[in-house]
Amino acid sequence: MTTEIQLRDVTEEDLPIFFAQQLDPDANRMAAFTAKDPADRAAFTAHWAKILGDAGITIKTILFAGQVAGHVLSHGWFGEPEISFWLGREYWGRGLATKALSAFLGCVKTRPLYARAAKDNLASLRVLEKCGFTVCGQDRGFANARGKEIEEVILVLEPDEREGTER
Ligand SMILES: CC(C)(COP(=O)(O)OP(=O)(O)OC[C@H]1O[C@@H](n2cnc3c(N)ncnc32)[C@H](O)[C@@H]1OP(=O)(O)O)[C@@H](O)C(=O)NCCC(=O)NCCS
Repeated sequence: MTTEIQLRDVTEEDLPIFFAQQLDPDANRMAAFTAKDPADRAAFTAHWAKILGDAGITIKTILFAGQVAGHVLSHGWFGEPEISFWLGREYWGRGLATKALSAFLGCVKTRPLYARAAKDNLASLRVLEKCGFTVCGQDRGFANARGKEIEEVILVLEPDEREGTER
């Protein structure tokens, strides 16, 4: 089977798939800083309306073999430009997040670009590391999916002098 991924703009039809993907308990535990109640469809709908209506956000659906595998986005909600990504459980462990993030970084050239992950979200940290991010700090924050405050790692992708990146 091909391991090629494609990125395309999000459509309304993707949203029920994203909703199902963000319900997975293991994914929630990993991501940690999640919605208060992932099963709350009204909150999900409101959150995604905000995402899709925000001109400062770049978001792409990740397609794998023509199927909606997940999404990747950049936002500036906390001041600095920051990325985030989520894949449906059945797509994990095949290098798809790494490929999707690499492709996304070819479209979103803002640098420095930041990312945050729970300190124990080793898969996410590894994806970020493979895509060139390095650890630049630590933080603590309340993680809805853990019901407590946990440690968080902050990473940065610095400008690549060989490429024309934008600040
Ligand atoms: C995190 C996530 C995107 C990873 O997707 P993926 O497609 O499986 O990632 P990849 O296959 O591209 O890479 C995962 C890497 O982490 C490694 N990894 C996975 N689980 C690991 C673990 N428990 N300990 C150490 N390394 C681990 C893999 O071996 C791989 O590294 P390698 O290529 O050097 O072998 C996916 O699990 C996900 O969507 N999780 C839920 C949401 C989430 O956590 N999003 C990130 C929020 S910051």
